[in-house]
Amino acid sequence: MHPELLRRLEEVFGPDRGREVARFLEEGRPETYVRVNTLRADPEDVVRSLEGAGVVLGETPLDYAFVVEDSPGPVGSCLEHVAGHVYVQDLASMVPAEVLGPEPPGPVIDACAAPGSKTTQLAQLMGGEGVVLAVEKDPGRAGALVHNVVRMGCVNVLVHVGDARGLPVGAPFVLLDPPCSGEGTFHRDPHARSTWTPAKTERFSRVQASLLRALLERLPVGGRLVYSTCTLSPVENELVLNEVLDERFRVVPSAPGWLGEAAVPGLTEWRGRSLRDDLSNAFRIDPTVFRTDGFFVALIERVA
Ligand SMILES: C[S@@+](CC[C@H](N)C(=O)[O-])C[C@H]1O[C@@H](n2cnc3c(N)ncnc32)[C@H](O)[C@@H]1O
Repeated sequence: MHPELLRRLEEVFGPDRGREVARFLEEGRPETYVRVNTLRADPEDVVRSLEGAGVVLGETPLDYAFVVEDSPGPVGSCLEHVAGHVYVQDLASMVPAEVLGPEPPGPVIDACAAPGSKTTQLAQLMGGEGVVLAVEKDPGRAGALVHNVVRMGCVNVLVHVGDARGLPVGAPFVLLDPPCSGEGTFHRDPHARSTWTPAKTERFSRVQASLLRALLERLPVGGRLVYSTCTLSPVENELVLNEVLDERFRVVPSAPGWLGEAAVPGLTEWRGRSLRDDLSNAFRIDPTVFRTDGFFVALIERVA
């Protein structure tokens, strides 16, 4: 692992835990989790029918999410997956939509949506009602998004292929899950791990800041925006929020209680520089606790 990345992990998690996280991201094997699509199926029925195919699922703190304890092959090739009854999605990746907590009629904007894990989860949390506007800039990736929206039967999702920064409208619920360096998924992607550089994180941070700035400008007073990344160092997380947020916005407490010690409060200081106090309400998900990806999540409210 790049020494600068290890240093950053030690800074955000503390020296011992930071080294443990680094080890997990190098050698650890994350669990496979599935989300039952409650728009199409009942979790108990899905557990039973997958058991018939030799797939053993274990419970998680979320009643629609399960850990794959045993499987004769990839769950993605089971009939239940093809039929849109389940979506293979990491447990940590389910947290941003949970934190946003959208309510019908919304609308909800999912600003960086492909391939649609969080879009289809948002549609499910809305009970198939209201509107989720899923925006994706890359036409090829938008194809995968449309495929998943159709497979999961999300009739309350509209897909828009375009740049989220150019949207002429705002919404009371916004999810921004922008492109990032993916440090929290390095156990799945050794190539990304070996090609990580500090300069890359700087480049991503500029894209992230421009997306966040544009979406916040159109967030109505009282509206909520969740900023999430599957990366761990402060450059793409706290520093982006610290640069873009002003007195009109507040980062509010949002870590779900079930995460327990897996939720690590955001930093209010980095390398001798003071950051906004409310960044302590943001949180990282330590990937070692539930053997997941690492994530950063912040719930932002517009107060003025
Ligand atoms: C981290 S991925 C999103 C993952 C997705 N939220 C999920 O859970 O399945 C970021 C996505 O943002 C898209 N993207 C990048 N810049 C964008 C922009 N300006 N407007 C809309 N989408 C953008 C990328 O093409 C990529 O598909």
